[in-house]
Amino acid sequence: MKHLLTVRDLNAETIRRLFELTARLKRTGQASRPLAGKTLGLLFQKPSLRTRVSFEVGMAQLGGQSIYIGPVELQGGQREGAKDLANVLSRYLDGIVARTYSHDHIVEMAAASSVPVINGLSDESHPCQALADLFTVHERFGKLKGVPVAYVGDGNNVCHSLMEASALTGVHLRIAAPRGYTPAAQVLRWAGAQAKRNAGTVELCASPDKAVKGAWVVYTDVWTSMGQEKEAAKREKVFRPYQVNSRLFRQADPQAVFMHCLPAHRGQEVTDQVMDSTRSIVYDQAENRLHVQKAILLELLGKGRSIR
Ligand code: CP
Ligand code: NVA
Repeated sequence: MKHLLTVRDLNAETIRRLFELTARLKRTGQASRPLAGKTLGLLFQKPSLRTRVSFEVGMAQLGGQSIYIGPVELQGGQREGAKDLANVLSRYLDGIVARTYSHDHIVEMAAASSVPVINGLSDESHPCQALADLFTVHERFGKLKGVPVAYVGDGNNVCHSLMEASALTGVHLRIAAPRGYTPAAQVLRWAGAQAKRNAGTVELCASPDKAVKGAWVVYTDVWTSMGQEKEAAKREKVFRPYQVNSRLFRQADPQAVFMHCLPAHRGQEVTDQVMDSTRSIVYDQAENRLHVQKAILLELLGKGRSIR
């Protein structure tokens, strides 16, 4: 693995290894400083709380440092192109986390970069999120194979990565998304084929109720993603029947948990009752971003083996 642009850069074995390393890092912490002298650049065209803070803290805990380069410096990619940016930054940095509007921008950066590029969210994909999500599911249920997960909401970046990660780990993922907001056809195809190989399933469902029925995990994301603010009013109408509320959540298995990548828009995609219930594991999920990303940093910055 040189870069982490989408979950498709991984396979079942690399995920298993990453999770093993993640569990060890979470359990024991990291006493030595395997990334001492290394610098990570955080290139963010959009705002972030979890991704930025967890990467910065993770890098510090591993003995390295990070530099944040935000929307003001990047000027939406207008100041210079991805190729020049990545070439220059490769001369200073040991790794890059990029959060962009266009996924192609990250792909172009990775093509020009001689150091690892990690996708910290694009319009198409959010791989670090999905890895932390499935690590959290495994932590909760002790397995991934055969676990029924329902995703209710917009079939975009977070959903795409969850589909890909589920397909590689044998999860049974059911997705309910309004017409016009279903996941990209090529992601569905890829995930469907991979799921078959790993004894899982990734499929679309006709309604939120059908997706949630009997699920062990109910997952949702915001109705209006960053960059789509002009569509907010329309989306509020379209997505209203997809709200995760107590009525919908009751259709799930009695041991079901609620998950959300956060930030949550309470009262829209999820109600306070569900967010604040004892079944909600959204803060464990957020915490696990830190542990999973430390494992990713160790793998990509070349130190994964040294701490085994
Ligand atoms: N879930 C997530 O990526 O959060 P941020 O947008 O705050 O980084
Ligand atoms: N789908 C959301 C996820 C935020 C972490 C967005 O792209 O804004």
